[in-house]
Amino acid sequence: MNGENKTLLVLAAVVIGIILGIFLEQKISGEINVVSSDVKKLEMSIKEIDSSIKAVDSSVKDVKISLAEKEKVSFIRDMQEIGRRMLSLDYAGKFARWDAAKIEIDELDKTLQDAAIMDSQRAPTIQDFRNTYIPKLRDAASKKDAKGFENVWAETYNTCISCHKGAGSPPSAIETLREISSEVDQLSG
Ligand code: HEC
Repeated sequence: MNGENKTLLVLAAVVIGIILGIFLEQKISGEINVVSSDVKKLEMSIKEIDSSIKAVDSSVKDVKISLAEKEKVSFIRDMQEIGRRMLSLDYAGKFARWDAAKIEIDELDKTLQDAAIMDSQRAPTIQDFRNTYIPKLRDAASKKDAKGFENVWAETYNTCISCHKGAGSPPSAIETLREISSEVDQLSG
């Protein structure tokens, strides 16, 4: 091979190299474009997932709030029933209706238990209350001891009031209990 041919060959190699380089560069930049649009798509779906997570989060919060509200309403209803049971219990004792008294004590017990479920914060106090007074009331009723029953009833009632004071319960609670006690006073007076 003479010198001229060698130069031509080198030139041809350089030209091929340049063409190949351009070709490869274009190919790579095309691929980069594809990848970057895929990345954009991915980013979009991540954003969508993010916003759905937020939506789920806020509906979970809504459900929790409405559950808490329902529990609060149920607790107040339970308290109202507890008030009525206490009133009928006093009547039952004063008229020596011991069978009726036993039924009322059972119902009072059940309602206290339900109130404890509805208010987990106050549950321990309510359970203590149940464990202390329900057996005392049952005992006095089964002994058909009118005087003893009256004492236990008064002790129970005073504990209702002290919990209301301690729990910072609304005036309506104290008002209703006052109504109960005034009805009871009228009855016994
Ligand atoms: C653990 C403490 C606790 C004990 C024990 C308790 N209560 Fe309550 N009671 C409350 C609270 C707190 C409220 C207020 C609820 C509210 O309005 O959110 C309430 C409310 C009431 C209400 C008013 C309900 C209304 O319409 O607003 C009555 C009636 C009542 N209680 C009766 C009783 C009686 C009777 C007893 C005893 C046998 C008793 N409670 C024992 C904590 C207690």
